Amino acid sequence: MGDFPITAIRSVEFGVPDLARAEAFYKETWGLRVCARYGEVVYLRATGSDHHVLALHPHSSAEVLSVSFRVKSEECLGRIAEAVGQAGGRLIAPTLSNPEPDGGVVLKIATPEGFILRFHHGDAIYHDWKEQASMPLRISHVNLNCNNIEATSRFFQDVLGFALTDRSRAMAFLRCNSDHHAVVLADSGVDGLNHIAFMMPEWESVMRGSGRIIDAGFPIGWGVGRHGPGNNIFAYFIDPFGFVIEFTAEVLQVDDGYVSHGPEYWVWPRGRTDHWGIAPPKTENVKKAQLAIRFASPISKDAAQG
Ligand SMILES: [Fe+2]
Repeated sequence: MGDFPITAIRSVEFGVPDLARAEAFYKETWGLRVCARYGEVVYLRATGSDHHVLALHPHSSAEVLSVSFRVKSEECLGRIAEAVGQAGGRLIAPTLSNPEPDGGVVLKIATPEGFILRFHHGDAIYHDWKEQASMPLRISHVNLNCNNIEATSRFFQDVLGFALTDRSRAMAFLRCNSDHHAVVLADSGVDGLNHIAFMMPEWESVMRGSGRIIDAGFPIGWGVGRHGPGNNIFAYFIDPFGFVIEFTAEVLQVDDGYVSHGPEYWVWPRGRTDHWGIAPPKTENVKKAQLAIRFASPISKDAAQG
């Protein structure tokens, strides 16, 4: 296994215009649990070991405030902080003790495109975690829209130490551990959030979890199906604020011996968008939502704290 400075994707921060509604959706429908409150921020955990996978902030509109990763040492934070400026990004806050409930130390940067990323070390984890059927276990991956996918891909590889696992015509799949991808970059003509995927314990949980979301009035926007790169099962939904969120499972596990493929390999037979050939075409609503959510400005009040 490659020696990755970043060991995992951990959590995301959403800014939402109706905090109570967001909390209710992610708790009662999506299947997370409130684990902490700090000021006005609500922290929700999944069933896995991460302190939280989602932090909800009151915000004027639906925006991503940050995506968090865990690094293997504090030295890695220093190296990222040094490299980010030279690569055209920006240090928002140097490595500091984290005042939020997950603790440890945290470094906050903006990539050249304005993606706000946080890097944690020594953050709290649960030792007594236990997976639960049909409930999310952890974050699986973030999919980011890119105006210049090759430049963004270079930043993730050169500055953050990710490895390119596969490259389809429209997407670059990047890994930082044995999961086939933790970050996916989409060639979209804009910079922003495409979607966030939550890992389910297994395929049955994707199905049962999806049933729970449909029962709550949120139809599947794309899926259920099995993706090409990563071979993972997927079901996509749109949350009450327009964030596209995915249940996934069975993500391909890879190591240094994995043979990466390019766009000429990742081609679907006509009419197909998944391995099984059962996923109906993606709805127009989801296509639109996948381009609609941006990151908060790195200099805005909400994004600049901590
Ligand atoms: Fe995905």
